[in-house]
Amino acid sequence: MKTTNPFDLVLFGATGDLAMSKLLPALYRRDRAGQLPADGRIIATARRALDRESFIARIDAAFEQYLEADERTAADWDRFVARLEFVSVDADTAAGFDDMAAVLRGREDHNRVFYLAVAPAYFVGICQTLNQHGLVTDRSRVVLEKPLGHDLESARAISEQIGAIFTEDAIYRIDHYLGKETVQNLIALRFGNMLFEPLWRREWVRDVQISVSEQLGVGGRADFYDRTGALRDMVQNHMLQLLCIIAMEPPTDIGADAVRDEKLKVLRALKRLEGQDVLRNTVRGQYRAGAIAGQPVQGYLEEEGVPADSRTETFVAMRTELQNWRWAGVPFYLRTGKRLQERGAEIVVNFRDVPHSIFGVTYGAGQPNRLVIQLQPDEGVKLHMMAKSPGDRMQLRPVALNLDFAEAFRQRPPDAYERLLMDVLRGRLTLFMRRDELYAAWSWIEPILEAWNDAGDAPKPYTAGTWGPAASSALLAREDATWHEER
Ligand code: BG6
Repeated sequence: MKTTNPFDLVLFGATGDLAMSKLLPALYRRDRAGQLPADGRIIATARRALDRESFIARIDAAFEQYLEADERTAADWDRFVARLEFVSVDADTAAGFDDMAAVLRGREDHNRVFYLAVAPAYFVGICQTLNQHGLVTDRSRVVLEKPLGHDLESARAISEQIGAIFTEDAIYRIDHYLGKETVQNLIALRFGNMLFEPLWRREWVRDVQISVSEQLGVGGRADFYDRTGALRDMVQNHMLQLLCIIAMEPPTDIGADAVRDEKLKVLRALKRLEGQDVLRNTVRGQYRAGAIAGQPVQGYLEEEGVPADSRTETFVAMRTELQNWRWAGVPFYLRTGKRLQERGAEIVVNFRDVPHSIFGVTYGAGQPNRLVIQLQPDEGVKLHMMAKSPGDRMQLRPVALNLDFAEAFRQRPPDAYERLLMDVLRGRLTLFMRRDELYAAWSWIEPILEAWNDAGDAPKPYTAGTWGPAASSALLAREDATWHEER
């Protein structure tokens, strides 16, 4: 398999959760697959005063947890470890940046990636310090993890300050949902087949549902989460990105700007919700004590670090529309929440009813076709259609054409970060958000936040282990629709 060009990847926040659970395992796996060049180094940095050996011991422990036993061989481990350097740096005081400069010196002609897996409050400061130390070369890229701002103004401030140091095509804004295998398969499905495109429009589609449900609560992230809430944490980025991929026009090619231009048009076509419209078309929820998979769990307000009177939403459901010829009037329902009944992420396209049934009720009522694109927990696509049930009578029954990617390709689908990290190393921007997309997403989200704030009421409580507040089903019931919840 082809390797990338030689590189230095400087990983900030290397002892953090994301690095240990996702980024380092992803790099190890790509290394194992033969995709990293011999001259590819990972320079891990963190505030802690660790030496290289103790850092490696931490990775060893993390890999025990996050990799399968058969992925770990002595040869692969040795090769991976040989790539690692560790430098302690302090983003507040700039201590350690000289050490980092020493490690990077003489390699200015290599691709250089600065991956900022740290709180966004440090983004600008780190980039400025890198710049002051002369570490930002022509071949440098920076990778930013979300959240990119708290609102439009802060997103602009971050982008403009970082934009003064890195050009736009050197900035990789990660939305890990775009790296999920099924999301790319959705692009393949839509634009690699003739079958769907003619039906992919208001004349044939009744509604589209995008649902990301988690069983997890806020865990140890209460401080971050309570300032953020589900709308900013999931809808502003992941959910809107999925909506873009499902709704965009065919791009002229798979290149970064062609795809991102089309996504931007979708974001701009989103019907703006303001004032009363927000309250009518959105539902906010917050989990109370309940049970997940039979185990009792506490409510959000009892979580450590959450203020007892918090009004942060842990659940959002909403109805929106796109104002363009293809989609005018078609409801797009979005739903996401923590502590819900099941873990899953899916996009459901519900087609319209047949115009006239020739079968009559005695033969079994027809059900409209439904395409379910499942991202999690398993990855696949199901097309629900009507078929005749075996026997001497013309009895109709819904059946599903089932494409299970793991079965079809007999291969473990790569984790989103494997794909995205390789794209950064290869300089491919298609699956990263451009600055104007980010602004468009925040512009749409902001009035919703404002309307909630003005309303001044608390989110609706829901019991952990359910599908959220009853108002979420009621939102769809207004249009005779229901959330797709069967697996
Ligand atoms: C993150 C959110 O971006 O995505 C988390 O900050 C959320 O709150 C996570 O749990 C969900 O990602 P995944 O890949 O597990 O669905």
